[in-house]
Amino acid sequence: MPTTSETGRKLGDRELSRVVFSADRIAERVGEMGRSITSFYRHDDDLLVLGLLKGSFIFLADLVRAIDRPLQVDFLVASSYGSGTESSGEVELLYDPEASLDGRPVLLVEDIVDSGTTVDRVVPVLEERSPASLEVCALLRKHAGATVKEPRWVGFDAPDRFLVGYGLDYSENFRHLSYIASL
Ligand code: IMP
Ligand code: MG
Repeated sequence: MPTTSETGRKLGDRELSRVVFSADRIAERVGEMGRSITSFYRHDDDLLVLGLLKGSFIFLADLVRAIDRPLQVDFLVASSYGSGTESSGEVELLYDPEASLDGRPVLLVEDIVDSGTTVDRVVPVLEERSPASLEVCALLRKHAGATVKEPRWVGFDAPDRFLVGYGLDYSENFRHLSYIASL
């Protein structure tokens, strides 16, 4: 017996309990966000869209295709600390974007902002590189805490449940689903 069914709905004893955001609903919302971002940056040059890996990879791919203006794409990977681990406040970039941020509008793309810890650690590191502006776009927002930099664009308010799919993982599984489900 394969552990994963063809639809990805089952993984071992883990079953997806319910679709929370369908592929159609996500596509519609991502289109709206793309139009809003296009309009927000209409007077800017040199837009750099920075995807925070791995979770943002599918969202980013759809989002940039919904942004109707010139832009460049790069990625960053930030070290993650286990829950309960006190950070020194410094974030280690496991992959540092090659693109220069100096004097450019930068849009940081996150899959989900939960406590805001990730955004709070990455934003100061990026701001040190003197971007002309720095905004955050998150597909999902849970409300476990406030961040120093609230996302200017949020796709959906997320329920307080563990979500998978459309880039979001549970132990690296389920990222490939075209919809978002709760476990
Ligand atoms: P934060 O640092 O607490 O804001 O959490 C953000 C990160 O935690 C995201 O980039 C995700 O990788 C992960 N995360 C938070 N909630 C979920 C979830 O419901 N499903 C999958 N990953 C999540
Ligand atoms: Mg994750």
